[in-house]
Amino acid sequence: MTPSTPLLQTDLGIGPVHRGKVRDCYDLGERMLIVSTDRISAFDWILPTAIPDKGRVLTAISSFWFDWLGVEHHLITTDVTAMELPAGIDLAPLAGRSMLVRKASVVPFECVVRGWLAGSGLNEYRDAGTVCGISLPQGLRPGDQLPEPIFTPATKATSGHDENVPFSVMAKAIGPLADTLRAQSLEIYSRAAAYAAQRGIVLADTKFEWGQAEDGGLLLVDEVLTPDSSRFWPADEAGHGAVPGSFDKQFVRDWLEQTDWDKASPPPPLPESIVAETRRKYLEAFRLLTGRPLD
Ligand SMILES: Nc1ncnc2c1ncn2[C@@H]1O[C@H](COP(=O)(O)OP(=O)(O)OP(=O)(O)O)[C@@H](O)[C@H]1O
Ligand SMILES: [Mg+2]
Repeated sequence: MTPSTPLLQTDLGIGPVHRGKVRDCYDLGERMLIVSTDRISAFDWILPTAIPDKGRVLTAISSFWFDWLGVEHHLITTDVTAMELPAGIDLAPLAGRSMLVRKASVVPFECVVRGWLAGSGLNEYRDAGTVCGISLPQGLRPGDQLPEPIFTPATKATSGHDENVPFSVMAKAIGPLADTLRAQSLEIYSRAAAYAAQRGIVLADTKFEWGQAEDGGLLLVDEVLTPDSSRFWPADEAGHGAVPGSFDKQFVRDWLEQTDWDKASPPPPLPESIVAETRRKYLEAFRLLTGRPLD
């Protein structure tokens, strides 16, 4: 497939827009339009170079999982011609990368599930033998699988980094709903991880967001089980005593590490070869997971 024109930003002029690092989200009242651009972030910076088709891959992966998981979710359609967007909007750049969703009241905790030891979990384990206050057996190596997946919520920080919190903090803030979200998050992670493992991808950890619909019903919202909200590792690299590079972003991180960029000023543009390799990795992640190429 030839790369499609990369999209760095949208400007649809419909309703208030919230721009995240990767997605442009338009508030349409009872609904929301979430457009995944081709922006990529690394070391907490949005890079100046886009990865063609990345937004389409992320949208297709979320859409695949919403369907596969079979839980109540917010996705109405990814078909831009069925969204009844105002006339005059050019649908072509939005096709394949947009989700029309039911707007929900989002639970203000990120529901993180970890099945393998990495990231902030690994740091805490090294210091204290725990991950988010949960005691783990001694002797685990970086990147090892945990005896069982653990639920490690984080607050949704409005600026800066999300903060890991003990489950008791979440339970105090939202009551019994916390137990439900923990059980549901662990359940869907375990099912998805078992499926992905058969397809050569380790879902080391992931972050779910949940919301409540008008009628009070629970909805899985945001993106789900994508390489941007999770750590995807090549299965054959996992469990050998070191944290594997992430399936999708490792080329970018490695390349940035060998430049003289100081991570404190705007990052340099990516060379074409790194863009092409990274794009290939995102497409490969989709193909491995779903068993078909992105069309
Ligand atoms: N169905 C929904 N209803 C209401 N809000 C939603 C829904 N689904 C997702 N959201 C919210 O939309 C926002 C998406 O923002 P996005 O993730 O792109 O950027 P961010 O979280 O501000 O920053 P970052 O790019 O660092 O993640 C999140 O605040 C998420 O909680
Ligand atoms: Mg977010």
